[in-house]
Amino acid sequence: MLSYQHTYHAGGPADVHKHIALCLLLEHLAKKDKPFSVIDLYAGEGDYDLAGFAAQKTQEYKEGVAQLWNATGAPRGVHEYLEALRRLNPDGVLKRYPGSPALARVYMRDDDSLILNELHATAFPNLGRWARKDDRITVHKRDGLEAMVGLTPPKIRRGLVLIDPSYEVKTEYTTVPEKLAESVKKWREGMYVVWYPVLKEGRHQALLDGIKEQVDGEIFHCELSLSTVKPGEATPGLRGTGLVVVNPPWKFDADMTTAGNWIAKTFGRGKHFARWIKKSETQES
Ligand SMILES: C[S@@+](CC[C@H](N)C(=O)[O-])C[C@H]1O[C@@H](n2cnc3c(N)ncnc32)[C@H](O)[C@@H]1O
Repeated sequence: MLSYQHTYHAGGPADVHKHIALCLLLEHLAKKDKPFSVIDLYAGEGDYDLAGFAAQKTQEYKEGVAQLWNATGAPRGVHEYLEALRRLNPDGVLKRYPGSPALARVYMRDDDSLILNELHATAFPNLGRWARKDDRITVHKRDGLEAMVGLTPPKIRRGLVLIDPSYEVKTEYTTVPEKLAESVKKWREGMYVVWYPVLKEGRHQALLDGIKEQVDGEIFHCELSLSTVKPGEATPGLRGTGLVVVNPPWKFDADMTTAGNWIAKTFGRGKHFARWIKKSETQES
């Protein structure tokens, strides 16, 4: 049985890092006059109430999104992310936090498609309620990795897949690369984003090694360390937050590097690093 519930972690440092990358990719998809699809395999609940019990219990958002809410001079990606947040909080007070489905919906036009998947017994019905009455959205209740292989390629072949597991099941560090490789073979032009936590056990290294060995395509990797989290803070276990992006668009690497450095500076702790795991020679310059 799954116990992780994202409502306790919404808007924390990991969400900020991941959602800024997501906004950059969504903006890229939405700027062309051609429909796109987003497949969000571990969708959570849609959006979140930061005044609610769970968010107030952990207060993780105070170490994440709340640090950026009033910041000025935000670079590309962060700017778009903050604009999306403002749309959800039009009176200027940060009360609601968009999960990945809500961020995708900000960018969607009439012909775009959002395919959501969630397995948790509470999160799934909440996600269904969030998505109701929007016929651009379909909601599935399947295992995320099984769904990834089953749902790719989507009918609209421009698009992205978000793979954002809770890693409660430790084998996910090795099954994610395996299933990702399988799905990329079926949908070579798709963009894929994999999120992972950096914890003291260092299990994410197996994930990175597996992706490098098994997955085809151009692969970008970035990580925001949170190494100065002190015991007693809301996220003491989380030493960092990482992302692997398969087939990112042109200039995503530069934008994400700038945005990541800016977040690290604004959080006032840790460092951001970015590199290519694989890059084709034609785009090397
Ligand atoms: C980190 S949260 C997702 C947050 C969301 N993507 C966002 O950015 O707003 C991970 C979600 O995956 C769900 N989950 C865990 N194991 C799963 C599985 N095997 N298949 C599908 N969903 C799963 C959890 O219930 C949780 O809601």
